[in-house]
Amino acid sequence: EIEGRLIAVSNRVARPSEGVSPGGLASALSDALTAQGGTWLGWSGKTIADGTEPDVTATTVDDVVYSLLDLPADDYRGFYEGYANAFLWPVFHGRSDLAVHRPAEFRAYAAVNRAYAEATARIAGPDDLVWVHDYHFLLLGKMLREAGVGSTLGLFLHIPVPEPAAFRAVPEARRLAEALMHFDTIGVQTARDAARLAEAVAGLGEGVVLNRPGVIEVRAFGERVRIKALPIGIDVGALRGELYAPTPPEVRAYLDGLGGRRAILGVDRLDYSKGLPEKLAAFGAFLAADPARADEVVLTQIAPISRGSVSAYAHLRQEVEALAGRINGEFGSLSRHPLQLLTRPYGRRAVAHLMAHADVGLVTPLADGMNLVAKEFVAAQDVDDPGVLVLSRFAGAAEAMEAALVVDPRDADGLASAIERALAMPLRERRERHRALIASVARDDVGHWTTQCLEELIAAG
Ligand code: G6P
Repeated sequence: EIEGRLIAVSNRVARPSEGVSPGGLASALSDALTAQGGTWLGWSGKTIADGTEPDVTATTVDDVVYSLLDLPADDYRGFYEGYANAFLWPVFHGRSDLAVHRPAEFRAYAAVNRAYAEATARIAGPDDLVWVHDYHFLLLGKMLREAGVGSTLGLFLHIPVPEPAAFRAVPEARRLAEALMHFDTIGVQTARDAARLAEAVAGLGEGVVLNRPGVIEVRAFGERVRIKALPIGIDVGALRGELYAPTPPEVRAYLDGLGGRRAILGVDRLDYSKGLPEKLAAFGAFLAADPARADEVVLTQIAPISRGSVSAYAHLRQEVEALAGRINGEFGSLSRHPLQLLTRPYGRRAVAHLMAHADVGLVTPLADGMNLVAKEFVAAQDVDDPGVLVLSRFAGAAEAMEAALVVDPRDADGLASAIERALAMPLRERRERHRALIASVARDDVGHWTTQCLEELIAAG
């Protein structure tokens, strides 16, 4: 039981009525807050003239108050397209080679964190729990304390934590580590992330790491913080609920058009962490091994464009589109294309129905905090005749989903044979694997995650 209110803070906000989910964080948090009630502070999607004060608009839907900020355009750009997504994201996903560091963007990042600290300070009381989300707000704990917020402060980091050496190489590493120490508790997706974060932060602050059962405590910079692995999950009931609704006409037409071909499905934001070129290359290798397969299977890859104004994403788009064109050019025929690359977003319902009808789900990121698509794919399967999940060992989800066909996505031939094996898997083995997978997906669902995060916030307060 929370005495005060729950105040969640994240850059991206999704309302339950919005059918398209822009990523794992927003859909999980939407499920969590809808069930729990509280205030959700985030970006409105609008920017205002530079130099003007951020504007907050609050609307209430059911038990959730959406408090949305309009932010100055330059600050927002430097924060979102700059420091958060052109710098922190690649560093945290093990792609420091893609990271672009510009000091002005760090200043914009700090300015946006400051704006959120002030907006939070206007609504947060001492009994409230402030639950901050993701790499957009690494400075917020300290800034909230500076703004006089006395609430318990938690951060949940949805993305993976890099090796301590990569963290230390960030020009602002000490400043980030010191600011992180002002949270009371930090949740991460996996035990490995918890250990890495503790080591990095303690190392930068010449502090100590205390390993307790299930939780790590770090003392550094004159503060103490608890770090805990709390794997995020999905709302299994809500996903299954989508399947009770009639199949959307577009999906129906797609299924009719398959004409007996087996369906392989991928659903990923168009992001270099998702291993899309590797996936397409492996599919190419799978077809090359026996070109007759091009008439027997189709890979439908939903890859909505994401962060398109960040240059690494624009390059990736070109690369993926070229590869897709090449595969269809080489293996397609006058009547059929083995690959469908769709770069527009599809709604939750359409995706759920596509998953339910797929023979194979390909979730092959090179680095991923958790990956909820893997869990959704499992939850969407028919228990009597389930499809097969092929899952990268680099997704946080792989930690509890060993019953998937676990692959190294960098190994094109290995991935190609996993596709082959998935398509040929006998019903009995499919059922056994699915039974194990659905048990873990149902156990570690979003309700469990929310409860655990709130318990941890209360314990840390
Ligand atoms: C990941 C991040 C989230 C982010 C989502 C979509 O899941 O952890 O913080 O919201 O990607 O990315 P976007 O930049 O569109 O919010």
